[in-house]
Amino acid sequence: MKIEPFLTEQFFSQYEFSSPHMLASSDCETISIGKLLHLAGATLEELGGLNLGYTESQGDPRLRSEISKMYSEPTAEDVVVLTSPVEGIYLAMQTLLEPQDEVIALRPGYDALNNVARHLCQQVIPWSLVAGKEQWELDFDQLESMISPKTRIIVVNFPHNPTGFIPSTTEFDHLIKLARENNIWLFCDEIYRGLEFDTPIPSAADRYEKSIVLSGLSKTYGLPGLRAGWLIIRDAELRNELINWKHYTTICPAAPTEFLAHKALLVKDKLAERSKTIIQQNLKLCESFFARFPEHFIWRRPQAGSVAFVELNLKETGFDSATSYCHQLAQNHGIVLLPGRCLGFDDHYVRFGIGKKSFESALEAYSAVLSEIKSKTG
Ligand SMILES: Cc1ncc(COP(=O)(O)O)c(C=O)c1O
Repeated sequence: MKIEPFLTEQFFSQYEFSSPHMLASSDCETISIGKLLHLAGATLEELGGLNLGYTESQGDPRLRSEISKMYSEPTAEDVVVLTSPVEGIYLAMQTLLEPQDEVIALRPGYDALNNVARHLCQQVIPWSLVAGKEQWELDFDQLESMISPKTRIIVVNFPHNPTGFIPSTTEFDHLIKLARENNIWLFCDEIYRGLEFDTPIPSAADRYEKSIVLSGLSKTYGLPGLRAGWLIIRDAELRNELINWKHYTTICPAAPTEFLAHKALLVKDKLAERSKTIIQQNLKLCESFFARFPEHFIWRRPQAGSVAFVELNLKETGFDSATSYCHQLAQNHGIVLLPGRCLGFDDHYVRFGIGKKSFESALEAYSAVLSEIKSKTG
C-alpha cells in the first residue's frame, strides 16, 4: 500500500547537506560524543567496553527508570524505548487504528503525525491552528464539531512544530476533558518539551490515562544523530500490543544509543539550558530582522520550541507560492527555509529553525539578499 510523500524530508534531501545557510532546522545545536561523555562524567573507555549484543525490546531498565523521572505519574514500566522518535508515531498508529476509524490531527503538523494515520484509516480531520494577530491560537469549537463516535485518536504536538504554540493550562485541561468524555486516545508529541520560554507545560502522560506520549533527545537536547526516542503508555494492554508491533520493525534499541541516551539524561537540564540560551539569542535576531522587513513577513513569536512559522507576503516576493520561493532561495542563494505546504498548510508560510548557532550567519546572508532586492525596487 502506498503512503503519501514525506514532503519535509523530500525537500530537505535536496538542500539540507549541500546549502551553506540552513535556516529551517527543527533540532538544536548538537555536541560530540566526547563532549557529552565529559559533561556526564563518563569516559570513552566505558563506551568502548560496551557489548554489542541484542538489548531488551522495551528498553534498558536503567534507561527507562531515568526517563520515568521526567514524569510524575508514569513508572519505568510505562516507558517503551524506541529506535528513533519517528518510529513511535508509526508504532502507535499501527497499534491503534482500524480502517473505519477517524483521527483528528493538528494542522499544520509534522508530516508523519498526519500521513501515517491517513494511510491506515478512513479519515484524518485537520484541526487547524488559527493565525491570530500576534500569536497562533486553538479553536475548540472547531475541535468539538469534529468529534464523532468514530474518533479514535486526537493527535497534538506541544510545543508545536512549526508554530511554537503551547496551550494554556485551561486549554490543556479542556482538551483532556473532551478526550476523556468521548473515550478518545490522545497522542501527544512532546519532543520539544523543555523548550518553553516561560512556564513549563505539563506532560499529557501525567494528566490522562489514555494518552500516548512521544518524546526523545533529538530537539530539546540537541542529539538527533543519537536517534533516541521513547513512548509513555500507561495502558498495559496497549503497551504490550505496541511492543508486539515493534518486534516487526526494530526489535530492540541500539546498545550504543541506549548507553549514550542514559548519559545524556543525567545532564539533561544542562543540555536543555544550552539550547534555550541559543534560542533566546536567535529570537532577538528574529525580532530585529522582522522589524527590518515588515513588508515581507508577518511574524508571530513562538511561545516555545526551536521553530517559528512565518507568513510570507507573496506579492512582495514576486512568487506565486512559498514553495517556489523556497526553491529559488535555496538554489540561487544557498539559503534554506521550509515551505509550510510540506507541513500540510497554506502555501504562503515558511518555517524558520531557531535552535542553531549558525542561525546568525544564515540570517545575515538572508538579510543581504532582501536588502539588495529592497534597494533595487526602491
Ligand atoms: C513534531 C515532531 N515529532 C517527531 C519528530 C521525529 O524526530 P526524529 O527525526 O528525531 O525521529 C520530529 C522531527 O522533526 C518532529 O518535529
